[in-house]
Amino acid sequence: MLKGKHIVLGISGGIAAYKSAYLLRLLIKKGAEVQVVITPNGKEFITPATLAALSGKPVVSDFFTANTGEWHSHVDLGLWADLMVIAPATACTIGKMAHGIADNMLITTYLSAKEPVMIAPAMDLDMWKHPSTQDNITLLKRRGNIIIEPKSGELASGLVGKGRMEEPDKIVEAIESFFAKSQSLRDKKILITAGPTYENIDPVRFIGNYSSGKMGFAIAEECAVRGGQVTLITGPVALTTPQYENIKRIKVISAKEMHAACMENFTHNDIIILAAAVADYAPDYVAEKKIKREGVEDMVIHLVKNPDIAATLGSRKLSGQIMVGFALETDNELENALKKLNKKNLDWIVLNSLRDAEAGFMKDTNKITMISSHGQLIPFDLKSKRTVAKDIIDTILTQK
Ligand code: CTP
Repeated sequence: MLKGKHIVLGISGGIAAYKSAYLLRLLIKKGAEVQVVITPNGKEFITPATLAALSGKPVVSDFFTANTGEWHSHVDLGLWADLMVIAPATACTIGKMAHGIADNMLITTYLSAKEPVMIAPAMDLDMWKHPSTQDNITLLKRRGNIIIEPKSGELASGLVGKGRMEEPDKIVEAIESFFAKSQSLRDKKILITAGPTYENIDPVRFIGNYSSGKMGFAIAEECAVRGGQVTLITGPVALTTPQYENIKRIKVISAKEMHAACMENFTHNDIIILAAAVADYAPDYVAEKKIKREGVEDMVIHLVKNPDIAATLGSRKLSGQIMVGFALETDNELENALKKLNKKNLDWIVLNSLRDAEAGFMKDTNKITMISSHGQLIPFDLKSKRTVAKDIIDTILTQK
C-alpha cells in the first residue's frame, strides 16, 4: 500500500517520541521510504542512531552538519515528499507551525512542504484543552493540515485525559486511507460548474432559480481533498470557497458568462462536472434603467435561448475526458435523464428527483441515481451532499 511513497516523519520532543520508532518501523515494513526530521528536544527522547538504523537514512536535525558544513535542504525535502507526518507534535511545535516560527529544521521543513501534512498531537490534557492550543489546531486545520486526534488515557504526567498520541498502527491506517483517497485524483484537473445563473431584466431585476450551489461546492471540496486541481465556475451563490489551495474559483453571473468561462477552461481538464442550474432563457433585451410600473398594465418579456453549456462541451469532448451532468426532474425522471445523457454526449448523469423530500435545491442532503452511457444505473440512499459528492467521485473513478 505504501510502496514507493516518500514520507517525511517529523518528531518533536515529547514522551510519545518513543512510539515514533514503532511508527517508523511500520511505515518501512509497508514499503514507504521515510526521512526522519527531528527537533533538538526530540533527540532528548529518542536517539538519532535508533531512527537512522530503522529508516536506513541519516536523521536530519540541524541546518547543516557541523564538521563538514554540508547544508540540509528543507526545500528539497518538500519536493521529495508525498506526505509529511509530524508525530508526536507537541504543543510547542504546533504553536510554531501555526505561527511560522522557523527556529528548527522540522519547522523550516514544514514551512517549505509542498505535500499534505498530517499532525499527531501529544501533550498533557490541560495543554491540549488550552484555548491557545485549540486555536492553533483550528488554524492548522483551516489551512488543510490533517489532524490525527489524540486519544484519552493515562498521560506521562500520571493524569488521565485527552492528549495521548494516537497509536502507531492507527496512524499508519490514517496514512493509508489518505493515500487511497487522495491518490485517485492526483495530477487530475477537474472543472465544476455550480449554483444558478441570473439573467438580467434591468439593473435591479433578474430571472434566476433556487439553486444554492451546495452540491457543486461539495464536489469541489471532495476533488480537492483527493488532490485534484479544481476550477470551480460559480453563478451567484452565498457560499464561501472551500479553503483548499487547489481550488480556483471563477465567479460569473449569467449563462453566457458561464458558457464563456467553461469554453476557456475546459480543454485542459480531465473531468468536467456540470452541477450548475443554468437558466435556459434570458431576456433578449436588458433595460438600461429600472423599468417603471406607472402606465404599464401588462408586461411581456421576450426570452431567447441561452447556450446549452453541457451540450456544447459534450459535442467537443476530447478523448479521455469524463463528462458528468445533473438532471433535476419532477416527472418521467429516468426517461428524461437518459435523454439528456445522450443528447449532451455525457458519460454520466446524476439524477435527482424533486419528488424525493430532502433532495435537491437548498437542501443539505440529496438522493441520487447515477446513470452512465454504458448503461449503469446506480441508486444511492439519501445522504449529506458531502457524502453524495464522495459517491459521485468514487463511482466515476471506479466504474468504467
Ligand atoms: N446545462 C447546461 N447549460 C444549460 C442547461 C443545462 O450546462 N443551458 C446542464 C446542467 O448543468 C445539467 C444538465 O445540463 O448538468 C441538465 O440540466 P437541466 O436543466 O436538467 O436540463 P436542460 O437541458 O436545461 O433541460 P430542461 O430544463 O428542459 O429539463
